[in-house]
Amino acid sequence: MESGILIVGISGGSGSGKTTLAQGIIAALGLDTCAVLAQDSYYIDQSARFDGDGGSVNFDHPSSLDFALLARHLHDLRSGRSVEVPIYDFATHSRRAQTSSLRPKPILIVDGTLLYSQAPIVAALNYRIFVDTPESDRYRRRLKRDVEERGRKPEGVERQFLTQVKPMHDEFIEPNKTRADFIVSGLAGVREALEQSLAKIRALR
Ligand SMILES: Nc1ncnc2c1ncn2[C@@H]1O[C@H](COP(=O)(O)OP(=O)(O)OP(=O)(O)O)[C@@H](O)[C@H]1O
Ligand SMILES: [Mg+2]
Repeated sequence: MESGILIVGISGGSGSGKTTLAQGIIAALGLDTCAVLAQDSYYIDQSARFDGDGGSVNFDHPSSLDFALLARHLHDLRSGRSVEVPIYDFATHSRRAQTSSLRPKPILIVDGTLLYSQAPIVAALNYRIFVDTPESDRYRRRLKRDVEERGRKPEGVERQFLTQVKPMHDEFIEPNKTRADFIVSGLAGVREALEQSLAKIRALR
C-alpha cells in the first residue's frame, strides 16, 4: 500500500445496513484509529430545484452527488492532509456554509450507496465491502426510518422508492456489487455482519 492509511468502502442499497455496520466498526476500533466519511455529505445543493419528495430531483442518481470532491478528499487524506467535509442539510436540501474538519486516521470508512458506480472512488478504496440485503427488507427498514425519524408520510416514501430508489438501485448499485471484495449479508444480524467485516479489516492491516 502506498500510504499507511487503509480506506474501506461500505456500499449496498439504501436501508441495507451500511451505516449500522460503519458505526459498529468505529465503536470497535475507536475514534483514534478510525473515522467515517459519508457519501451523504457530498450531496450537491438542490434547494433551488427541489419540488417535493419523489419529484424532479432524483437524490438516488449519481449526478446528485459531488463525487469529484469526494475523490479529491480521499486523495488528500491518503496524502496526510485534513479535509473540510461539507455539511448537507436534509431539511433544506442545501449545503451549510459551515464545514466539518476531518483529519487522516489509520482506517477511514466511506459509507455510501453509489460508491462502486464511480471508477475514481473504486480506485481510491483499498477494500470494498457490500452489504447485501433483499429489496423487500430494505424497503421495510427505510419506510420505518423515514416515517419515524424523518417525519415523512408513508405514501411519499413509497412513491420515492418506486420511482427513484428502486430504479437507481437496479441501474447503479446492484450491477456494481461485482466490484466488492467482500459481500456481507444484511440479514444475518448486526453482530455477525460486524464480526465478519472486522475480521476482514484486521487481516488487511
Ligand atoms: N444486519 C442487520 N440485521 C438486521 N437489521 C439491520 C441490520 N443492519 C441494519 N439493520 C437495521 O436496518 C435499518 C437500516 O440500517 P442503516 O441505516 O444502517 O442502513 P443504510 O444502508 O445506512 O441505509 P441508507 O443508505 O438509507 O442510509 C436500521 O433500522 C438498522 O437497525
Ligand atoms: Mg446510511
